[in-house]
Amino acid sequence: MASGHHVAAWRHPDAQADAGLNIAHYRELAQTAERGKFDMVFVADSPGAGLKGEASTFARSSQGAKFEPVTLWAALSQVTSYVGFVATASTTYEDPYTLARKFASLDWISGGRAAWNVVTTGADVAANFGLDRHPDHSLRYERAEEFLTVVKALWDSYEDDAFVRDRTSGIYADPDKAHSVEHRGAHFDVRGLLNVGRPPQGYPVIVQAGASEAGRDLAARTSEVIFTANLTLEDAQEFYADVKGRLPRFGRNPEQLLIMPGIFPVLGGTEKEARDNYEHLQSLVHPETAWGILKRHYQGADLSGYSLDDIAPPLPSETNGNKSRLKLVTDYVERERPTLRELYRTMATARGHRVFVGTPEQTADAIQLWFENGAADGFNIMPPILPTGLTDFVDQVVPILQRRGLFRTEYEGATLRQNLGLERPGNAHTLAAHTLAATPVRENAA
Ligand SMILES: Cc1cc2nc3c(=O)[nH]c(=O)nc-3n(C[C@H](O)[C@H](O)[C@H](O)COP(=O)(O)O)c2cc1C
Repeated sequence: MASGHHVAAWRHPDAQADAGLNIAHYRELAQTAERGKFDMVFVADSPGAGLKGEASTFARSSQGAKFEPVTLWAALSQVTSYVGFVATASTTYEDPYTLARKFASLDWISGGRAAWNVVTTGADVAANFGLDRHPDHSLRYERAEEFLTVVKALWDSYEDDAFVRDRTSGIYADPDKAHSVEHRGAHFDVRGLLNVGRPPQGYPVIVQAGASEAGRDLAARTSEVIFTANLTLEDAQEFYADVKGRLPRFGRNPEQLLIMPGIFPVLGGTEKEARDNYEHLQSLVHPETAWGILKRHYQGADLSGYSLDDIAPPLPSETNGNKSRLKLVTDYVERERPTLRELYRTMATARGHRVFVGTPEQTADAIQLWFENGAADGFNIMPPILPTGLTDFVDQVVPILQRRGLFRTEYEGATLRQNLGLERPGNAHTLAAHTLAATPVRENAA
């Protein structure tokens, strides 16, 4: 989130109000993350702002002015050397060939530091693409599975050493090492070669953040990093064990998928200072924004009979949008019986991610607790405001984690896969050829 993860971040005097369209701001963030030895930086995205809808909410949101992620990261890869770049792109609203091409290019341009956050897009942006309606959740996930198959096949269309560029013979590409995709499926018909060589990482790292049944299965089958939102240690442990437990079903081992819950750290030199910082942020949420948040969670239901001090009524039981977030909020409402004010304040802060308000030492403790108790392999750090929230985290929390031996002091490798400890996937055609070569030819019995 450009100005920070709090819904009113852009109004804070320390935040960059025009962050979404400010390349110097993003350059500073990427370089600070690299100074802090972060594995990667990540931008969330939706392919459109939807309809103008309720003018007041639209008018108060900073989400309508931001860069397209792949373009942004391509630029920032040129002013950094190690940090990885996770760009969000939608399998519901994009096209596999164009997407495979963009991410392969980003992987080349960044020297093997690209990752794709595969999203099915919860927000209804159908009108931006000439569609009558937002496709159903199950259909979106079906399409996502096929989309990934096609994109990987395109990334494999050239073997790693296909481009021989032999000046003497005049052969640029070895035809035996080029494999046209021949895909005909329920959602896509794609034939031909990609016009980019195989990405340096084989495939850019595949990131995913779905947490419904379909989302967890997609992650277990195809993802290498999963972002998640969990409010309690118990929920995070349940999610961690469940998703890791699904991998063997898809012939994978649990180390091939890294789970990274979000944490929204509100720092202060003392506990009191941290709490004051938190209250200052909350005071910036305009009442119209508060009602907009509630309306979204209640899927447009009429809340006009309620005041903010009423106990939050039950949420709708179904959604065609973000199923796991609905479950998280429903559990919270049932567990805590919050007022509507408490509910919007919780969601305004980190949209369901874990909020931690405290000193750097306490924040490091909170991170350590989850890391050492089967709840996380790493964390998605979501500073309330940017750039200061990131700078503070890097200067104040990272050194504590390093002193405790919990976090690296130097990058291990040059590519994102190397730094995450993930294997480079082999090319399917090369692997098939080797398997064939290793299989003894049977004597003809006749
Ligand atoms: C940390 C995090 C980041 C996410 N970023 C995006 C995003 O950038 N764009 C998007 O459309 N969805 C994003 N999502 C939503 C997920 O992709 C997914 O739609 C959501 O978690 C609901 O999945 P489910 O329907 O399987 O429950 C994000 C989720 C999490 C936890």
